[in-house]
Amino acid sequence: MTETTTTSSPPIVIDGKGVAATIQEELQQEVERLQKEHSLLPGLAVVLVGQRVDSATYVRMKKKTAAAIGIHSVDVDLPETVSQLDLLAHVEQLNNDPSVHGILVQLPLPPHIDEAAVLKAIAVEKDADGFSALNIGNLCLRGGDPPLAVPCTPAGCIELLQRYDVQISGKDCVVLGRSNIVGMPVAALLQSCNGTVTVCHSRTRNIAEKVKQADIVVAAIGKTEFVRGDWLKPGAVVIDVGINSKPDATKKRGYRLVGDVHYDECAKVASAITPVPGGVGPMTIVMLMKNTINLARNSIGLPRMPLRNSMHRNLSHRDFVSTLNPPSATTTTTTTTTDK
Ligand SMILES: NC(=O)c1ccc[n+]([C@@H]2O[C@H](COP(=O)([O-])OP(=O)(O)OC[C@H]3O[C@@H](n4cnc5c(N)ncnc54)[C@H](OP(=O)(O)O)[C@@H]3O)[C@@H](O)[C@H]2O)c1
Repeated sequence: MTETTTTSSPPIVIDGKGVAATIQEELQQEVERLQKEHSLLPGLAVVLVGQRVDSATYVRMKKKTAAAIGIHSVDVDLPETVSQLDLLAHVEQLNNDPSVHGILVQLPLPPHIDEAAVLKAIAVEKDADGFSALNIGNLCLRGGDPPLAVPCTPAGCIELLQRYDVQISGKDCVVLGRSNIVGMPVAALLQSCNGTVTVCHSRTRNIAEKVKQADIVVAAIGKTEFVRGDWLKPGAVVIDVGINSKPDATKKRGYRLVGDVHYDECAKVASAITPVPGGVGPMTIVMLMKNTINLARNSIGLPRMPLRNSMHRNLSHRDFVSTLNPPSATTTTTTTTTDK
């Protein structure tokens, strides 16, 4: 290991848990407002196939958060052996259910099911994860229609930057990873915020040199403590999406969770950094709820809430809101707490 250049003051630790709790409260108020002013109760359907422990845990957490916010949830629990045809029929039923505004099919699905075909069957107006080709396409198009929903983890990364007043416009951003669910959409979002984005992946050469240029680093590769302190430009802002288990004999379960960033080394060089756990992780579920509420708003012609909190002074905010809030939206909306 080489020596790390350190900054003089300790970094700001970006508190994803705290920000997620604040957003949860804002969303709860928005649900109350929608019910009072529009008699609209946002609904989220969660489809779980089989009994994978990790999937069941994620689904339980999503349902718990939905309940806390006041979102109506519909559970569809299907056996591991469900046929593709039956699963598609359930999705179709949810597509036609007016009490459901967002549909989430928990992945992975059993090997006999064509995952892509199932995701494609979800009506784009109910695509709670924002993964459909239309939503991803609209996220990437400049001047196109706004996406109806934005992938949750990437949206959570941007919210964290915004709520900590990290300016993205004009900054050099390096994204590690190019997956459809994290790396690619987070790169598109950073670019929509006028960042200059470099995306690195498994074939990228000299990653450390590229990271060294970055004002903002987003790491999403699934490799334990991959990014080292001496790779960072002093004062860089680090968003660690990775969730990896590292053997730790001092823990009862024998491991602890760590990110894609070597936290102790990077915290000595960064100006702000997300911890793992407690950084990006808690944001993903609240952004799913935000998508569901936005889909409900869209169902009655209300524009979506902006992705970011406009309290922030980031110069790119106006551009971004105008991209995501189409002037074509006809119905006047009430001001929401996230629209401050
Ligand atoms: N906090 C959350 O809520 C949340 C949500 C989703 C994911 N995650 C975590 O985020 C991490 C990434 O998830 P994912 O679903 O995006 O993973 P993924 O689909 O496996 O994609 C990993 C990406 O990292 C790249 N990569 C792999 N090894 C690399 C290396 N040595 N150098 C540079 N790039 C490399 C891959 O490159 P290629 O494209 O060339 O293969 C790929 O683009 C995982 O730890 C996951 O658990 C967290």
